[in-house]
Amino acid sequence: MASEAPAPSLVGSRTEDGVAVLTIANPPVNALAQPVRAALLAAVLAAEADPAIRALLIIGSGKQFVAGADIREFDAPPRVPLLNDVLLKVEAATKPVIAVLNGTALGGGLELALACHYRCASGAATLGLPEVKLGLLPGAGGTQRLPRLVGAAAALELMLGGVPIAATRARDLGIVDRLLGGSDALAGGLAYARELVAAKAAPRRLRDERVAADGLEPGFFAARRLEAVRALPGLLAPGYIVECVEAAVQQPFEAALALSRRRFEECRESVASRSLRHLFFAERPSSGASAGALVVKQVAVIGAGTMGAGIAISLATSGHAVVLIDPSEAAVAAGAERIAATIEAAVAKGRLASAAGAEAIARVTTAATLEAAAGADLVIEAVFESMAVKREVFATLDRVCGPSVVLATNTSTLDVDEIASATRRPGAVVGMHFFSPANIMRLVEIVRGRASTPAVMATALAVARRMGKLGIVVGNGFGFVGNRMLYAYGRENQLMLLEGATPAAIDAALKSFGMAMGPNAVGDLAGLDIGYRVRRERKDRPTDPRYYRVADLLVEAGRLGQKNGRGAYRYEPGSREPLPDPAVEALILAEAARLGIVRREVAAEEIVARCTFALINEGARLLEEGIALSAADVDAIWCNGYGFPRLRGGPMFYAGSIGLAAVLAGIEGFRRTHGPDWTPAGLLAELAAGGLSFEDWDRRRSATAAGQGVVR
Ligand code: 3HC
Repeated sequence: MASEAPAPSLVGSRTEDGVAVLTIANPPVNALAQPVRAALLAAVLAAEADPAIRALLIIGSGKQFVAGADIREFDAPPRVPLLNDVLLKVEAATKPVIAVLNGTALGGGLELALACHYRCASGAATLGLPEVKLGLLPGAGGTQRLPRLVGAAAALELMLGGVPIAATRARDLGIVDRLLGGSDALAGGLAYARELVAAKAAPRRLRDERVAADGLEPGFFAARRLEAVRALPGLLAPGYIVECVEAAVQQPFEAALALSRRRFEECRESVASRSLRHLFFAERPSSGASAGALVVKQVAVIGAGTMGAGIAISLATSGHAVVLIDPSEAAVAAGAERIAATIEAAVAKGRLASAAGAEAIARVTTAATLEAAAGADLVIEAVFESMAVKREVFATLDRVCGPSVVLATNTSTLDVDEIASATRRPGAVVGMHFFSPANIMRLVEIVRGRASTPAVMATALAVARRMGKLGIVVGNGFGFVGNRMLYAYGRENQLMLLEGATPAAIDAALKSFGMAMGPNAVGDLAGLDIGYRVRRERKDRPTDPRYYRVADLLVEAGRLGQKNGRGAYRYEPGSREPLPDPAVEALILAEAARLGIVRREVAAEEIVARCTFALINEGARLLEEGIALSAADVDAIWCNGYGFPRLRGGPMFYAGSIGLAAVLAGIEGFRRTHGPDWTPAGLLAELAAGGLSFEDWDRRRSATAAGQGVVR
C-alpha cells in the first residue's frame, strides 16, 4: 500500500477564536478520496499539536458535507491512509471535534461525523448509510459507532434500508446533538463549538461506549439476518451488516471493527457490488448534458392511451402544466380519468402529499385538436406506432406550433428522421422513448435525430431529469438501443421455442439468471399484437421463415396475451398467472414440423447463453455503429427498461465479468450451429483479442472525448 503526499488545498484550515475550521473541499460531493483523507489527517494532527487551538470543527464546502468514500477507488486495492485509520485519529483527538453537517452526510461522510465528538446539522442536511445499495456495508466504523449512538435496532434499520433521513429525524434519534437554525451552518457550528469550549466539554468518543442491547428479544440478530438476506437476495452485505452489529454488542470495539473491515473488503470484491457500483456511475446524468436547455413549463401530450396518460402523470407530478390531446372524446375522458385515479392512488398510498396530488391533477387539461398544442413549450407525441399516422401528426404540429417548440416523438422503433422530415424544422424534433407504464418506469431513451439541435437534445434531457427519469442519449436506428437488442434476444427465444424449449422453460431459465420476467411472460404482458404490428411496419424485416414465427402465429390465432387471457400462456379470468397451454404446444409442434425442424431438449444453460450472448453481440454492434454512446449506457438501458439483473451490472458488464474471450468463443460456437445471425461483432472480437473489456473501451472513449473537449 503506497502512501502519497497530502494535497492540503482539499482540506482548508483556518483558525477562528481558537477553533480550527477544517473545510473539506473536493467538489462536486466532497468524496473522501485518498488525497482528501491524507489532507484531513494532516490537518487534524496539526490542529491537535497547536496549543492555540481549543477545538476542531469539520465542515464541507458547497452544498454537501461529505457524500462518502470515493466510489471510484473501490475498483482498486485500498490506499493509505485508510479511512478507518483517519477516523480513529479524529476520534482520538484530545480536543473536542465537532462535525458541522452543512448538507448531505452519506456513507463515509456520516461515518466521519460519527467519529467526531459532537455533531450539529443545518435543517437542510440529510444523513444516511446507503452503502447497501452499492452491495457494501459501512466500512469505516459505521456498523460499530452508529449502534452505540442509537441502539442496534435503529442502526440496522438505517443501514439495511440505506435510505437517508432528514436532520430533524437524526436529532430525534440522537445522531445530531444540535440542530442549527438560520442559513449559515458555519456560523451556527462555530457558536456551538464556542459553547462546548466554554463548558469545557470533554470529547465524547463513541468507541468507548457500549451498545444498549438490553431490550432486544432473544434471537433478535438471527431473525434480522434471515429477513435481511431474504429482502436483498444475492448480496453479501445485508447478512454482514447484521453480523457486524451483533459483534458491536458482543465484542470489544477493535475486534468488531476489524471484522467489519474484513467483511467490507469481501463485499467490495464481490461481482454483485462491482455491478452495482458500475450502475451507480452508468445512471448518473452526464455532466453538462442539460446545459443550454430551453425553459419548459407547458407540455402537450398527443394521444390519451396508456402511454400518453402515463407520460402526462409524470409531467404533472413534476410540476409541468399538461394538455392531453386526443381526437376521440371517449379516449381523452378515459385518459384524464386514469391520470386522476393514478395520482389519487399515489396519495392514498402516502407516496404523494394530498395537496401535491390535487395540484398535479389541476395541472392537466384536455383538448380534442392539435391546435391546443400551440401554447406548449414541448410536445410529446404518443400516438399509434405507425409512420403514416405519426408523420401526419408532425406535419400538423409543424403548422400550429411556434418556432421554438420542441417536438418529441415517443416512438419505440420508428425512424425519427423520417418523422422529422414531415416538418420544416427537423432540428426541433427528437425522440423521447418512454417505457410502459411511463409513470413508473425510470428510463427514457432520448433519440438524437440527424438534425436534432444541441438545445433540443438538452431540453429533452432536462425535462426527463425533472420528471425523475433517467434520460439516456441514443442514436437513431431501428429500435434505438433497447428494442434493437430486445429483437436479438427475442429472436433466440422464438427460435428455441421451435427447437424444443417450452415458453415456461425459457422463462424459468432466464428468471433464475436474474431477469425480472421471462420473455414469453413479458410478451403476454405487453400484448403480442404490439410487436406484430411493429414487425409489419419494419422495412428491413429478416426473411428467415423462422423469424418470430411463433409470435406471429399466436397473434394470427387470436392470442394477444394477458389482455384476452391467451398468449404464449393461458390465463384464468382475473389472474395474471401464466399457465402452460397445450394448444400453444400443439401450435409450435405443428409449425416446427412444417419447417422441418428436428425438436430436441434445450438445456437451461443454452437458453441463458443464447439470450444473453445475443444481447452482448447486438450491444457491441450498436457501439460500433455509434447508436449506443457507451457500454455503460447499454447497461443502464437494459437494467432500467428491460429487467436485466442489476447484480450482474447489465449485459456489457456481465460480458466483462465472464470474460470477453469466453463470450466470443460461445458466439462462434453458436455461429457454427445456428448460422450468420451469430457473426461476432467486430468490436467484440477486437476487445477479446486485446484482453480488454467494454469498460476499458468506455474509458478509452471518454478519455479521447475529454481530450477533444467534447461534452456528451
Ligand atoms: N464517489 C465518487 N463520485 C461520486 C460520489 C461518491 N461517493 N457521489 C457522487 N459522485 C459523483 C457522481 O458520479 C457525479 O459525477 P459526474 O458529475 O462526473 O457525473 C457527481 O458526483 C454528482 O453526483 P450526482 O449527479 O448524483 O449529484 P446529485 O446532486 O444528484 O446527488 C448525492 C448527490 C446525493 C450525493 C448522490 O451523488 C449520491 O447519492 N452519491 C452516493 C452516496 C453514497 O452512496 N455514498 C456511500 C459511498 S460508499 C462509502 O462511503 C463506503 C464507506 O462506508 C467506507
